[in-house]
Amino acid sequence: MSDDDKTGPEGGSGQRMRRQRRRARGSSGRGGGDGTRLKRAKGRTESSKRWLERQLSDPYVAAAQREGYRARAAYKLREIDDKHRVLTPGARVVDLGAAPGSWCQVALERIGDQGRVVGIDLLEVTPLVGVTLLQGDMTDPGTPERVQVALDGPADVVLSDMAPNMTGQKRIDQLRVIATVEAALAFAEQVLSPGGSFLAKTLQSGSAQDLLARLKRDFAKVRHVKPPASRAESAETYVLATGFRGVPSDD
Ligand SMILES: C[S@@+](CC[C@H](N)C(=O)[O-])C[C@H]1O[C@@H](n2cnc3c(N)ncnc32)[C@H](O)[C@@H]1O
Repeated sequence: MSDDDKTGPEGGSGQRMRRQRRRARGSSGRGGGDGTRLKRAKGRTESSKRWLERQLSDPYVAAAQREGYRARAAYKLREIDDKHRVLTPGARVVDLGAAPGSWCQVALERIGDQGRVVGIDLLEVTPLVGVTLLQGDMTDPGTPERVQVALDGPADVVLSDMAPNMTGQKRIDQLRVIATVEAALAFAEQVLSPGGSFLAKTLQSGSAQDLLARLKRDFAKVRHVKPPASRAESAETYVLATGFRGVPSDD
């Protein structure tokens, strides 16, 4: 995941965030206030200084810490679902690229006791009560079967907040993101039940034409959504496809 989204220990940055919170409150016990922040920032790179300042002033980071979400990304899913209502009570949900687990937390809240959430990530995810967490690569041929066993049937919703490793080279990164969405879609085609929904992180530059065509072939409705919690300066957006038409016959 991007460092932008991490908020706490489960995000692997707990100590760092606790230090940041103390600094933000000026309660480091070593002077505090802006002087301390600037002094400590000396050894940092410009981009890590910018990251730190942004985290300290981000209301979503503060809200995630207050409300117990593992990442600020929780609010992206909450905002999308508030508007489009894909996480319905009793739904079976797959979360691809689940670490550190904030989307699983939101999914679980929304689907209630009768639903199921299965999260999968390359990384180990700290256990979450009520969620089945699998470690592995979602592109492995055996993963759809593994997930359906854990779900005890087909899925109603496939979520993907997966992010490939970025190179900083725009065109290469675009291609990597598209390949990641394509992999998530191929997975969804294997596990979704008819009428199901697919939500995946992509880029504002838009999905590639053939990917978009495939989405439109497979789903009744396809739209791009950018929730307020997704930073305006970030190129990310989400593609939401609803009304899965069933297993395509020619794939
Ligand atoms: C932005 S983070 C997800 C954050 C998560 N939605 C949350 O709210 O906590 C993206 C995750 O995708 C995972 N990922 C990327 N490619 C993957 C793959 N092929 N299989 C499984 N997980 C993958 C990464 O390990 C990373 O943890």
